[in-house]
Amino acid sequence: MDSNHGWPEPIIRVQSLSESGTETIPTRYIKPPSDRPSIEASSYTLSIPVIDLSAMSKEEMASVVSAACREWGFFQVVNHGVRPELVRHGQEIWRGFFHLPMEEKQRYANSPTTYEGYGSRLGVEKGASLDWGDYYFLHVLPSCLKNHEKWPALPPDLRDITDEYSRELLNLCGRVMEAMSIGLGLDPTRLQESFGGTEVGACLRVNYYPKCPQPELTLGLSSHSDPGGMTVLLVDNHVRGLQVRKGSDWVTVEPIRDAFILNVGDQIQVLSNAIYKSVEHRVMVNAANERLSMAFFYNPKADLPLSPIRELITPDRPALYKPMSFNEYRLYIRQRGPRGKLQVESLKTSQ
Ligand code: OGA
Ligand code: NI
Repeated sequence: MDSNHGWPEPIIRVQSLSESGTETIPTRYIKPPSDRPSIEASSYTLSIPVIDLSAMSKEEMASVVSAACREWGFFQVVNHGVRPELVRHGQEIWRGFFHLPMEEKQRYANSPTTYEGYGSRLGVEKGASLDWGDYYFLHVLPSCLKNHEKWPALPPDLRDITDEYSRELLNLCGRVMEAMSIGLGLDPTRLQESFGGTEVGACLRVNYYPKCPQPELTLGLSSHSDPGGMTVLLVDNHVRGLQVRKGSDWVTVEPIRDAFILNVGDQIQVLSNAIYKSVEHRVMVNAANERLSMAFFYNPKADLPLSPIRELITPDRPALYKPMSFNEYRLYIRQRGPRGKLQVESLKTSQ
């Protein structure tokens, strides 16, 4: 392998830039004015729905989840049944990883063929605009892709805690998939079956956004919709950053302690024939604090061609998308990096 691990140019860790104490960010990180974060516009009073999962019947859950998926593509869940101690332990252990010496982290430097490991960019275009964040990406499912050797060996409990965290989140995703399915007027298991039943995929991306001396000029993660099925996101309890598109506005998400943020990905938009929306979102960074988030991606079986579920195709609403497998689909983002919703739009049939 070449010295750049397959990337088009040497990889610079954003954390190293941040820790160098520079007061100006390199031009590669400066976004065009139209893409820069608007802090004032986000003091807006709108917010994504918050759903309390305790003491809710399946039907009630289906109805509120479905409304949120149609209108926002995003919602937060509280009292979700995942132990708060586990959630906090997961966050702290991953923060511990990013605080290890650089040599230790570099052992896991990733390459654009699988993206597994420690990374600092998405996309392989030479000279492309870069985002102010490092990340760690790993596979949880299917088990043939899961490899503990590719997960950090330090901090010592990281692998076990990440396993336990993943099991809990898979369970939660199963419940939400049922609610989403019922909310489409389908059998509770229908959406899961269209995902490939038990042969689903799951990956974790832990995002680490270091302090940034000029946060008004850049983004931690450029606008994108998530390419997979759905995402369960755990954000920093104290540091805001996530913004969700609502029409022409960006709504800043207020973190709720121990809650999860759930969002519809492109594959559920396709399967639901766009009844549920995968919505653009992006991440702001700031000068005072680093920020850590954990994005758990719940994905369909990767080689299954996906198109709108038959029952959701009607004369009034013909199939909006042509079939494509998730494997083919994700190549796009892996080569070009985050590009708003261009990708799912490009799947549209031309009727
Ligand atoms: C992502 C993502 C948001 C965040 O990883 O896809 O949108 O708050 N993360 O880090
Ligand atoms: Ni995302």
